[in-house]
Amino acid sequence: MKISEKIQQAINDQINMELASSYAYLSMAAYFESLALDGFAHWMHLQRREEDEHAMRFYNYMNDRDGRVMLKALGEPPHEFSSPLDAFEQSLENERQVSASIHALYDLAQKEKDHATTSMLKWFVDEQVEEEKSVGDMVDRLKLAGDHPGALLLLDREAAGRSDS
Ligand code: FEO
Repeated sequence: MKISEKIQQAINDQINMELASSYAYLSMAAYFESLALDGFAHWMHLQRREEDEHAMRFYNYMNDRDGRVMLKALGEPPHEFSSPLDAFEQSLENERQVSASIHALYDLAQKEKDHATTSMLKWFVDEQVEEEKSVGDMVDRLKLAGDHPGALLLLDREAAGRSDS
């Protein structure tokens, strides 16, 4: 069964959202590098790589289904953050929007009885739970750290140890 035009459009929008997330995380990595918080910068680089992998998963799926990938323009990512907590809170908001978009895509695939797309999207539904947890945990810890530079540096060191991608 050929993938429908409607689902192709929705997947192309999702590819754009994943690449925009990648761009935003790269901008956050640059912000942390400017503050010499290299652990958080490392964390953001790994996150950026994950977003590229998500985009490529959709890209490969479209090609496997004989769809047509159409890349769209990326907007300027956020540059200014009032604090490390602000950067992670913006990330969390972005991840929530990505989850909502994946869920809408899942609903569309079910409505169109596109079982292959529904099955492919299950991985993303689970992945978004992990994504929101990993960013949300950092938001919680940064809130606990408050204005204590020592606690912030400790979290930065912890972020430097992140090895998954
Ligand atoms: Fe690809 Fe962080 O969602």
